[in-house]
This record gives sequence, structure tokens and C-alpha cells, in this order.
Amino acid sequence: MLPRKKSVKESRIEDYTYRIFSNDLNSQGTVFGGLIMSTLDRIALVIAERHSQTVCVTASVDSMHFLAPAGKGDNLIFQASINRAWKSSMEIGVKVTSEHAHSGEKTHILSAYFTFVALGKDKKPTKVPEVVPESAEEKRRFAEAELRREHRKRIKEEIHASRDN
Ligand SMILES: CC(C)(COP(=O)(O)OP(=O)(O)OC[C@H]1O[C@@H](n2cnc3c(N)ncnc32)[C@H](O)[C@@H]1OP(=O)(O)O)[C@@H](O)C(=O)NCCC(=O)NCCS
Repeated sequence: MLPRKKSVKESRIEDYTYRIFSNDLNSQGTVFGGLIMSTLDRIALVIAERHSQTVCVTASVDSMHFLAPAGKGDNLIFQASINRAWKSSMEIGVKVTSEHAHSGEKTHILSAYFTFVALGKDKKPTKVPEVVPESAEEKRRFAEAELRREHRKRIKEEIHASRDN
């Protein structure tokens, strides 16, 4: 049976590492952003499905900011964890750091928030366990996820209202 509540650490991914080679680069010689986005979607999906124990789909991505480039010879380190769950949806926060393969110098290159929706056997949204934040950082992310959800809803309503006028 599906538990009513789950901790963040039960689904977290701490250091998925990807080595950048020449075929990962764009025409600027830096890593192709789509490669990072696709990898993140897969990682966040794994977390959503670990948490919900069912099939999940990507519903939206918020605040995807590319902060710095990474290039050939760097390693990309992906970290992701569930921030909060509501009825059927879950927010997964992701962070990517580049690490120079030899010097080990680290640079934060991207952060974003993915929302996944869990689907039941009927392919309709289905209930997911609540997230129990434990550390101070998990509690901060839990609170901020609610702000982002409210912001998403408010923007949607404002856009609908502006189209009706
Ligand atoms: C995501 C999807 C399942 C939502 O279905 P829906 O019938 O609109 O669902 P509802 O309106 O009942 O909302 C269900 C939940 O999804 C959330 N949701 C729906 N659209 C959302 C969006 N764009 N962003 C964030 N959350 C969203 C709702 O807030 C709600 O959350 P809650 O249950 O935790 O309160 C549906 O829009 C879908 O199938 N989208 C395509 C997903 C897909 O194919 N992804 C892969 C991309 S290639």
C-alpha cells in the first residue's frame, strides 16, 4: 500500500555525474543546453516515480536559469530532490554544477523546478504521498514550493482574465 507520507531522502538523487565530450557541445563550444534539460527531465522523473510509486508526466518547468556555461573536459554533477507534493502533483528541485575534471573547481551552472503529475491506471491524476521535510533546507524548499505554485496559478488566472477583456 502507498504510504501517506514520505521523506525527501527516500527519493533524492545526490550526484549523478556526466562527463562532457566533444559531441555534447554547441557551436559556441559550450555544452548544449538541451542535453542538460533532457537529463534533468529524466532525473526528476525518477524522483517523482520513486515518491509516488506510479507513472508520472512532466506538467511544467519553472525558473530554468542557465547561470554559467560548461565545456569539454568538465563533469556535470546533477542533484535533485522533491520539494513538496500536493494532491497529485509534485515539485522537484534540480541543480547542476560543473566540475573541472582536473582542478576540481566547481561552478553552479543551472537551477530549475519541475512539476510532475502522478497518473493512476485510468491515466487520470492520482493521489501521492505528502512530503515530510526534515532539515532546515528541506523546510525552506517546502515553503518556497507553495509560493511558486500560488504564483503559477495567479499568472494563469491573470492571463485568462486579460484575454477575456
Ligand atoms: C499534467 C496533466 C496530467 C494534468 O491533467 P489535468 O486533467 O489538467 O489535471 P487537473 O487539472 O485535474 O490537475 C491535476 C494536477 O496537476 C496540476 N497541474 C496541471 N497542469 C499543471 C501545470 N501546467 N503545471 C503545474 N501543475 C499542473 C494541478 O495543479 C493539479 O495538482 P494537484 O492535484 O496536486 O492539486 C495533463 O495536462 C497532461 O497529461 N499533460 C501532458 C503531460 C505530458 O505529456 N508530459 C510530457 C511532455 S512531452
